[in-house]
Amino acid sequence: MQTIETTGRAGSVIARCRKLASFSEDPESTRRTFLSPPMHECHREIAGWMEPLGARSRVDAAGNFHGFYPATQPDAPRLLIGSHLDTVPNAGAYDGILGVVLAVALLEELRGKKLPFAIEVLGFSEEEGVRFGTPFIGSRALVGRLDQELLSVQDSRRVSVRRAIEEFGLNPNEVPQAELKNDTLGYLEFHIEQGPVLESLKLPLAAVDAIAGQSRLELIFLGKGNHAGTTPMQLRHDAVAGAAEWISLVEKLAQETSGLVATVGKIEAKPGTTNVIAFEARLTLDVRHSSDKIRSCAVADLIHQARDIAARRGLSVRETSLLDQPAVAMDPFLTAEIEQAIRKTGCKPHRMTSGAGHDAMVLAERVPAAMIFLRTPGGVSHDPAETIVAEDVEKAIQCGLHLFDQLALSQEFQQRTSRA
Ligand code: GLV
Ligand code: MN
Ligand code: MN
Repeated sequence: MQTIETTGRAGSVIARCRKLASFSEDPESTRRTFLSPPMHECHREIAGWMEPLGARSRVDAAGNFHGFYPATQPDAPRLLIGSHLDTVPNAGAYDGILGVVLAVALLEELRGKKLPFAIEVLGFSEEEGVRFGTPFIGSRALVGRLDQELLSVQDSRRVSVRRAIEEFGLNPNEVPQAELKNDTLGYLEFHIEQGPVLESLKLPLAAVDAIAGQSRLELIFLGKGNHAGTTPMQLRHDAVAGAAEWISLVEKLAQETSGLVATVGKIEAKPGTTNVIAFEARLTLDVRHSSDKIRSCAVADLIHQARDIAARRGLSVRETSLLDQPAVAMDPFLTAEIEQAIRKTGCKPHRMTSGAGHDAMVLAERVPAAMIFLRTPGGVSHDPAETIVAEDVEKAIQCGLHLFDQLALSQEFQQRTSRA
């Protein structure tokens, strides 16, 4: 097991991330999906950190954690800072969580000083899309897009989003109250890069200028179940064989299209046993590109190819769209301020586009949103080997504090009228 620095303020951020990673649905690894029981422990822990700061903590009806640090004046507008608290299965300790923990650390570093704007720490309940197949449930509530249709989506145990909210002790009828008010100046998100770029450039931080769009779909190939020993190959309608042919085309298309990434991350066969030809293969597809046009053409092409394969093999195929999230530009003003703050830490500011999805892309619909990336050793994420460098966390804290100073002095920032 890797040992990493846990002393000093950066060390304390790392130790807190690792503590939150221990609140898990699985005994041996980290998995914390939307409003699962360990999310209660997570909220309690963060509220415990917020309390000595005089910050009020609450959980909204979509399960998002809010910690409110007041401004010098009672009716001042607010700056939101946060990321998500849910994880993928077998997760690392930093994806999402680091952004929330860093936001709390920045408030601690203010040492009681108030700014002309309030700061609200946000810990989103759901960004990964693991439990319901549909991501951004938490941030969608803040922009008014957690609607009846999404509340009715069911997980693999047929529990709806609505029911999950009730089981967590919240009231789904209060979801509309979670929507942002028009006193929001912007949203900032610190996040690990989850890729190799900053490491290759030997840089600790980057300003994100845009986030690639993503499509998520479920495809179901339907064939005919039959005996694996007695059914000749030419008489089969094997759903898994059809799916496998299609999966290799997914990989080929992405390899041949510059900038396109496409992933089949989940496959389930039914009845799912050794000696039965599968009558059903259920797959997920995740397609991303910074150009929405290239992404949607790729999705259309892959659906077309799935239908061709199904027709040729005597199968049928059904597809359901789970997400069609366009690429989003980050706010140019905040991004330039971030670059300036990075420069003040003594580092060269790098600008880059994020291939991963983030809550910032949803918040950007309503408020100016911006992101700061931290170098990710080995570019490894969505895996327990995910790690960060204490010196980079220290730079991130310095960057955040410079940013607060810059924004506190900026009339332009404080007079920006929110689009909420
Ligand atoms: C979020 O982690 C994503 O899948 O981009
Ligand atoms: Mn993630
Ligand atoms: Mn994330």
